[in-house]
Amino acid sequence: MSARTVHIKSFGCQMNKLDTALVRSALLDAGFALTESVDDADIVLINTCSVREHAEQRVLSHLGHLKHIKESRPDMVVGVIGCMAQRLGGKLLEDKTVDIVCGPAQIPQITELAIKALQQKQKCLAVTQKIREKSETQTQALEGFESAYGIEDKQMPGQAYVRAMRGCNNFCSYCIVPYVRGPEVSRPPEAVIEQINKLADAGVKQVTLLGQRVNAYKYKRGDKTYCLADLLEMAGKVDGIEWIRFVTSYPTEEFFDGILRAMADLSRVCNYLHLPAQSGSDKILRAMNRHYTAGQYLELIDRARSFVPGISIAGDFIVGFPNETEEDFRDTVELVKKAKYKNCFIFKYSPRPDTIADKKLEDNVPMEVKKRRNTELLSVQEQISDELSRDFLGKEVKVLVEGLSKKPHFNLTEGEDKPQLVGRTTTDYIVVFNGPESLAGRFAKVKITKSSPLTLFGERL
Ligand code: 5AD
Ligand code: SF4
Repeated sequence: MSARTVHIKSFGCQMNKLDTALVRSALLDAGFALTESVDDADIVLINTCSVREHAEQRVLSHLGHLKHIKESRPDMVVGVIGCMAQRLGGKLLEDKTVDIVCGPAQIPQITELAIKALQQKQKCLAVTQKIREKSETQTQALEGFESAYGIEDKQMPGQAYVRAMRGCNNFCSYCIVPYVRGPEVSRPPEAVIEQINKLADAGVKQVTLLGQRVNAYKYKRGDKTYCLADLLEMAGKVDGIEWIRFVTSYPTEEFFDGILRAMADLSRVCNYLHLPAQSGSDKILRAMNRHYTAGQYLELIDRARSFVPGISIAGDFIVGFPNETEEDFRDTVELVKKAKYKNCFIFKYSPRPDTIADKKLEDNVPMEVKKRRNTELLSVQEQISDELSRDFLGKEVKVLVEGLSKKPHFNLTEGEDKPQLVGRTTTDYIVVFNGPESLAGRFAKVKITKSSPLTLFGERL
C-alpha cells in the first residue's frame, strides 16, 4: 500500500507555525507523505489560533469547505489541532466533519491519533483538562518531541524557530493564551542550544527564539539562573548561526538592560525588538492588566535606543478595548508618534471567552469606531514607517534571503531577467530585489534604490 497522505494548514502565530513544523516532521518520520492539495489527502490537519474571533471564524469556514469534500470522500480524516482545539475540545468533535481534536500540549501524540482515526475510524479527543496546572510528564513529552523533530523542518530556507519557553503567566485581561497554552515553562538552556547546534549543522543561518514573553525566560539550576541574555550569549557561540532573533518581548524592567547589553555586545544578535505596547492610555493599560504606564514604556524604548543605536522596534496595539474613549485613543496616537516604530500590528479588540475582560467588561466600543481608530492609527504609523524607510535610500544593506517574493513588485530597473526575491535586514526591514532563486537561505548585499512604508527595493551588489 502506498503511504498515507497528509495535508497540514497553519492559521496562527510563529508558535503555531513551529508546532505545525514539528507535527509535519513527526508524521513524515512515521511514514506519511505530505500533499499540497486537500483533494488527495487521506488526512487533513488544521493548526488553529484562538487569539481573535476572526482567526477562529476562518477555521470554521475552512471546516465548512472540508465538509463538502468529505461528503464525496467520507474516509478522509480531519483533525483540528492547536489553540482552538484546546479551547473548544469535545464541542469540535460534535461537528461531523471533525475526527481528531488535539491541543497544543498533545501534539506529541499526533501520529498515534492519526493512525487511530484512519484505521479504527474512531473519533479522538486529546486536550488538557486542567490547563493551568503544571504537568512534569507533559513537559517531558513536549521536550522529547521538540528535540526529536525540532530540526527536520525549517520554516524557511536557512531559518528556523526555536522555542525558548511555552505558555504564559501574564494574564493580560484580553488574552486567551494563558487559557490555551497553559503556564509558563522555560526550556532547559542545553536543550535549546543542542537544537541550535543541530540546526547549524543542517545549514541554518538564522534562529528565532520564541516565547509569549521571551524576555521573561528564566531557568534555575543549582545556584545559577539562566535568563534570555545567557541564552543569547550561548547561542551566539554556535558556529554557523549568524543571526539570532527573539520574539515577543513584554515591556518590563526585569532583565531588560541585560538583554539590551547582549544585543549591543554580541554581533550575531539582531538589533530588533518586538515590544507590544497595546495602548498609550494609562487607564486602558491598567484595565488590560499590563504592568506599566505609557511613560515607563517610552522610557524603555529610549533606553533601548541608547544601548543599541539603530535598533528597530515593532509594536502591537489593540484599539477599541472596553471603555476606550476618544481621549484614550489620542494617547495611543501620541505614543505611536513618539515611539517611532519600524512597523505596528494593530488589532480591533475582540472579546475572548474566559478572559477577565470578557467576563467583567462590556465590549462597548462600536465596530465602526474600532475600524476608524484602526485606520487612523495605521495611517499615523505609515507616515513614520515611510520616513524611516527613506533613510535607507542609497545605502547598502545585508539581507538574509527568504525566497521568491510572493507579491510581484514593479519598478525594479536592474536584473529584470531574474526573479524578484525578498529578504530581511538584521533590523527586520523587508527588502525586494532581483536575483537568482538559489540565493534563498543565503545572505546578499543590496543597495537600496527605492522605498515604501513597509518595503525597501534595491539592486543586488
Ligand atoms: N483582541 C484583539 N487583539 C488581541 N491580541 C491579543 N488578544 C487580543 C484580543 N482579544 C493582539 C495583541 C497581541 C497580538 C498577538 O494579538 O496585540 O500582542
Ligand atoms: Fe499563537 Fe496565541 Fe493564536 Fe495560540 S492563540 S496560535 S499562541 S497567537
